[in-house]
Amino acid sequence: MPEYDIAIRGGLVATSFGAARCDIGIKDGRIAAIAERIGDAAQVIEADGLFVLPGGVDTHCHIEQPEANGTVHEDSFVTASASAFAGGTTSAVCFIPQFKGGGILERFADYKARGAKGMLDHAFHQIIADPTDAVINEEVPKVVAEGVRSLKVFLTYEPLHLNDAEFIKVLLAARRHGCLVTVHCENYDAIGWRTRALLEAGMTAPKYHAWSRPRVVEREATHRAIALAELVDQPIQVFHVSCEEAAEEIARAQARGLKVWGETCPQYVTLTAAHMDRPGFEGAKFMCSPAPRDTAEHARIWEMIRRGTLDVVSSDHCGFSYEGTQGKAQNGRDAVFRDIPNGIPGLAARLPIVFSEGVSKGRIGLEDFVKLTATNPARIMGLYPRKGVIQPGSDADIVLWDAAKKVTITNALMQHAIDYTPYEGLEVTGWPAMTIRRGEVVMRDGKVQAEPGSGRYLPRGPYDLVKPRGITPDGFVAP
Ligand code: URP
Ligand code: ZN
Ligand code: ZN
Repeated sequence: MPEYDIAIRGGLVATSFGAARCDIGIKDGRIAAIAERIGDAAQVIEADGLFVLPGGVDTHCHIEQPEANGTVHEDSFVTASASAFAGGTTSAVCFIPQFKGGGILERFADYKARGAKGMLDHAFHQIIADPTDAVINEEVPKVVAEGVRSLKVFLTYEPLHLNDAEFIKVLLAARRHGCLVTVHCENYDAIGWRTRALLEAGMTAPKYHAWSRPRVVEREATHRAIALAELVDQPIQVFHVSCEEAAEEIARAQARGLKVWGETCPQYVTLTAAHMDRPGFEGAKFMCSPAPRDTAEHARIWEMIRRGTLDVVSSDHCGFSYEGTQGKAQNGRDAVFRDIPNGIPGLAARLPIVFSEGVSKGRIGLEDFVKLTATNPARIMGLYPRKGVIQPGSDADIVLWDAAKKVTITNALMQHAIDYTPYEGLEVTGWPAMTIRRGEVVMRDGKVQAEPGSGRYLPRGPYDLVKPRGITPDGFVAP
């Protein structure tokens, strides 16, 4: 009887704290041994010449997410799982919606059932768009008991945004129940004013999306989110940081010892506002919020990553196609920018872009790559060490990585249900050769093979990182 189900032999195994050439033994879906040479296995995978990395953990994915207007993000948990595996990602954290006037519990069961149909291991953030007393006092504790440990708030977007009083309510609830708060930081009223002015002036094309939300609206909301989180002593993660100005707010908070983390996304080191100025309606394909900036900003984002201010790179995957009734052009190809869905697909492209732009171009090391794409997201979301690391006892979520492989990104390679990728034509060096989820090969040489329904829900329990610093009693701060 072989000792292991699978042996991965001869690859360069990388973690966030170093890399070494060794074998990995997998038993019952978990990593059972890491050694220079391990014993017999039922299946041997030769990894000579490849990097052996923890499967990607993408903690910001909009998958099959119902929207307030009745649409649902087009990637189902099945198609998103295929896309994730194609790109070397094995687990994701997605969003249970809430709509104004509605509760959250009623959504939880529906969303959990959707997730159970996919192949990706998954956890949930709970969006709070209407923090009524009933939601905060009665429903939040119930979703926490179901394993939800992060509450997501939007400081902009109609009809999701919260005002400061509502945001504080959510921060306090999170503090009480041991949750992280993740925040979309842009100033709602400022964007509203800019948008109205632009539309009145006839400036309606997709490129004006960027004009409606310049860096200052992101910086202001980031500052405010941090200040209010400090007020109630509640840890937060600032989502999708697009510019140095916002990252500096985070750096200042971190320097003062606050529990504030910063996430960025591949779009903020590859796309620019000029992409939204492509002829026709093509610019809509690049519309996301915050808006992509420029190449000088890309360099500044890399610097903020190198400094550790931004310590997670997620995809912010959004399932809006270009064509179709739910797509970017759903309101016509002459739609004003305000009426174009925000968000772009990126689950499969995330690891290749971060590796290529980061490691292959010498901006970060291999360990940094592992930290940004797997270990840090798992830690910050309370999934570590089950996810995000190669060590005995962890789930055997592994990606074999061909660091030399040159690929031109096409939509077909993304294997999602979306009819375009904003990264079409981007040349990358470094590509996943094989993805293993809990000891099962789910992608080999681009071919995804996994049983729908095999993805596991990852309930999260209390975890230290999200504990308040404890320097103030709940809701009160000494002047
Ligand atoms: O443009 C974006 N990012 N849309 C998705 C929702 C969000 O803001 O995260
Ligand atoms: Zn957002
Ligand atoms: Zn998002």
